Amino acid sequence: MNYSKQFVVGLPKAELHLHLEGTLEPDLKLKLAIKNHVNIGQKTIKEVKASYRFHDLTSFLKVYYPAMNVLQKESDFYDLAWAYLLKAKKNNVKYCELFFDPQAHTSRGVSFKTVINGYYKAVSQAKKLGIEAHLIMCFLRDMPYESAKKTYQQMLPYKNKIIAIGLDSDERNNPPEKFIKIFKQAKKDGLHITMHCDIDQIDSIKHIKTCLKNIGVERIDHGTNIVEDKSLVDFAIKHKIGFTCCPVSNSFVTKDMKGKEIKYLLKKGALVTVNSDDPAYFQSYISDDMYTLATKYKLTKAEMIKLVKNSFNASFMSEKKKKQYLKLVDKYAKAH
Ligand code: HPA
Ligand code: ZN
Repeated sequence: MNYSKQFVVGLPKAELHLHLEGTLEPDLKLKLAIKNHVNIGQKTIKEVKASYRFHDLTSFLKVYYPAMNVLQKESDFYDLAWAYLLKAKKNNVKYCELFFDPQAHTSRGVSFKTVINGYYKAVSQAKKLGIEAHLIMCFLRDMPYESAKKTYQQMLPYKNKIIAIGLDSDERNNPPEKFIKIFKQAKKDGLHITMHCDIDQIDSIKHIKTCLKNIGVERIDHGTNIVEDKSLVDFAIKHKIGFTCCPVSNSFVTKDMKGKEIKYLLKKGALVTVNSDDPAYFQSYISDDMYTLATKYKLTKAEMIKLVKNSFNASFMSEKKKKQYLKLVDKYAKAH
């Protein structure tokens, strides 16, 4: 490889697949647990770190949701998002669209207002760090449709604080069509839409097809199983569908980074991007994900540049703004 990790860190980036709840580092978790008198079952950072263990999506989510009990006050949500933004700055993230899961908090008695106001305060201050940040509200697909509908109603007074609607959590037995009505409504209400199609799920390809052909999502989060159907790959390229891939996260939940698939999609001209998903749990921020993928799959400098350009192109910003960010990437590429 004719470039260093430093080159990758320095590349101007957009991050499009990042769960704010997945940025809860063990030290902040412990700090908030003590402050809010929440018994988390661990007493040291080392113990918290050791508890971050899983082998698939379901076992990951079993560790992930209980950890959120430490988030209680508006300032806790702010602190969590701000800590991520500081890390993003170090990774030269210039633009980000961040997932959050309101139902993971409202279901345990924290109000929607507390969650959104805390997160929004942080994203609106991101400018101070030279970052433009936005929020994507996700529904938990393993909760009933009625709960998503209620969450959508709770969101409406704050609609100008979010850019899009997403879908995450356990995909098993929770196909995208369960939420078709609410995503179509969101589109009518002027919001962007994206959905997770997690790696190697039962019916992955069927879910991807539904997302693309019946629901009309603009991006798919993960989604590399699309390589199983060449006509769908062609459809995604034609319609400029973004794929927000997370190689290190993939390697935790499936033992494979899905690098072959990412490289294939990149070469074919799909809008494939690299992101960190839940960096505190996978101990890998966006530059680490990019560099890990690059070393294992021998990506060229030109391919790395293409990946970051794809991330700006797959974002929900205006075409005019995209051009400005792409110029920044070109300037960096020329200087390095
Ligand atoms: N998939 C589904 N749910 C999630 C993920 C993911 O990658 N990360 C956090 N919640
Ligand atoms: Zn995710």
